Amino acid sequence: MKAAYITHYGQEQLTLGQLPKPSVTQPKQVLVRVLKASVNPVDLKIQAGKLRPLLKLPMPLILGNDYVGIVEAIGTAVTNFKVGQKVLGRISKQSIGTFCDYLVDQEANLALLPPNLDLKQASALPLVGLTAYQALFDKMQAKRGQSILIHAGAGAVGSILVQLAKMQGLTVITTASQRNHAWLTTLGADQVIDYRYNDFTKVCPPVDYVFDTIGKETLLQSFEVVKPGCKVVSVAGLPDAKFAKAYGLNLIWQGLFKLASHKITRASNKADAEYEFLFMRPDGLQLQRLAELVVTGRLQIRVAKEYPFEEIQAACDYVATGHADGKVIIKLTD
Ligand SMILES: NC(=O)c1ccc[n+]([C@@H]2O[C@H](COP(=O)([O-])OP(=O)(O)OC[C@H]3O[C@@H](n4cnc5c(N)ncnc54)[C@H](OP(=O)(O)O)[C@@H]3O)[C@@H](O)[C@H]2O)c1
Repeated sequence: MKAAYITHYGQEQLTLGQLPKPSVTQPKQVLVRVLKASVNPVDLKIQAGKLRPLLKLPMPLILGNDYVGIVEAIGTAVTNFKVGQKVLGRISKQSIGTFCDYLVDQEANLALLPPNLDLKQASALPLVGLTAYQALFDKMQAKRGQSILIHAGAGAVGSILVQLAKMQGLTVITTASQRNHAWLTTLGADQVIDYRYNDFTKVCPPVDYVFDTIGKETLLQSFEVVKPGCKVVSVAGLPDAKFAKAYGLNLIWQGLFKLASHKITRASNKADAEYEFLFMRPDGLQLQRLAELVVTGRLQIRVAKEYPFEEIQAACDYVATGHADGKVIIKLTD
C-alpha cells in the first residue's frame, strides 16, 4: 500500500513509498481503508523526535493521527462496527500512521460517520476536537458563568474550544491576529486580543481558566491572568512530574520533567493556581458527540486546503508555518 513515512527521527522530508498492508490480529481491532487524513502539528513534532519520551514508535514510521475511511475487516469481538461502514478516528497513540491506504485501529477509538458529514470535515475533527473537548470537560470541568482565556483561538484546537466553551455558557476571551478577529466573533468569542500588538496580561481580565497552545513565555505569563485557586491547562508547555507519574513514566523521567518544568511550577505556586498538561487521548464516544455537533451545524471546523497524497510534503510544510488558516487535509483515495 502507499504510505508517507520516516525511517529515522529528524528526517526532514517524508518518504513516499510502498509498505505492507496491515491486517487485523486482535479481537477488538478494525481494518480501515483510509479516504482522507489530516495533518496536525504533532505529526511534525513526532517526525522531529520530540515525543520520544512519551511514545515508543517503531521505524519505518508512517505519520498521521486522524482519518476518515471505510471498514474493510473487523476482529472477532468487534460489536459496534460492520464492514462497509464509514468511520472516523484518532488512531491509537502507540501505533500511529494514517498517511497510508490502510490502517488497523482499536474499535474504542472509532466513531460512525454521521450521514451528510463532509469527509474533509470528518478527517479534520478527531485530534483537535478531542483535545478541546477533553480540556474543557475532563481537565477543567468548566461550568456556566465561568470565564476562559484561549490562546490561539484561530488555531484548529482553539477555534473548537471557543465554540464548545460558548455552548457551555462561559465568557470567552481569545488571542488571534487581526485577520481572524471577525471570524472568532462569529464563533462567539466575547473579546479577541491581537497578540501581535497587545500584551494579553494587560488587557485580559482575571479568568477561571487559561487554555494554552503556545507554551514558553505565553504559558508562564498566563499565570498572571488566572484567578487564585483556578487552572491553566496547556497542550504545548512542558509536562510536569505529576503528568509524568500519571502517564506511568519511571522515576528518572519524573525527575527530568520536574526539573524542566520548574519555572511553570514556580509561576503556578506564585499565582496560587493549578497547572495541568494535557496529552489528549483517542475516545470514540466523545468523538461521536463531536461529529454530531458538526453535522448539525453547531460546531464549525475551518478547512484550509486539501492536498493530494503526492503533495503531502507541501501540506506538512504549510502546517509547519504555524499560521495555517484551518485544517490541512490529505486525500488518499476517492
Ligand atoms: N498535547 C496535546 O495532546 C495536543 C493536542 C493538540 C494540539 N497540540 C498542540 O497545540 C498546538 C496548536 O495546535 P493546532 O492544531 O490548533 O495548531 P494550528 O491550527 O496549526 O495553529 C495555527 C494557528 O495558531 C495561531 N497562532 C500562532 N501563533 C500564535 C500566537 N503566538 N498567539 C496566538 N495565536 C497564534 C495562528 O493564528 P494567526 O495566523 O492569526 O497568528 C494560526 O491560526 C500545537 O503546538 C499542537 O502540537 C497538543
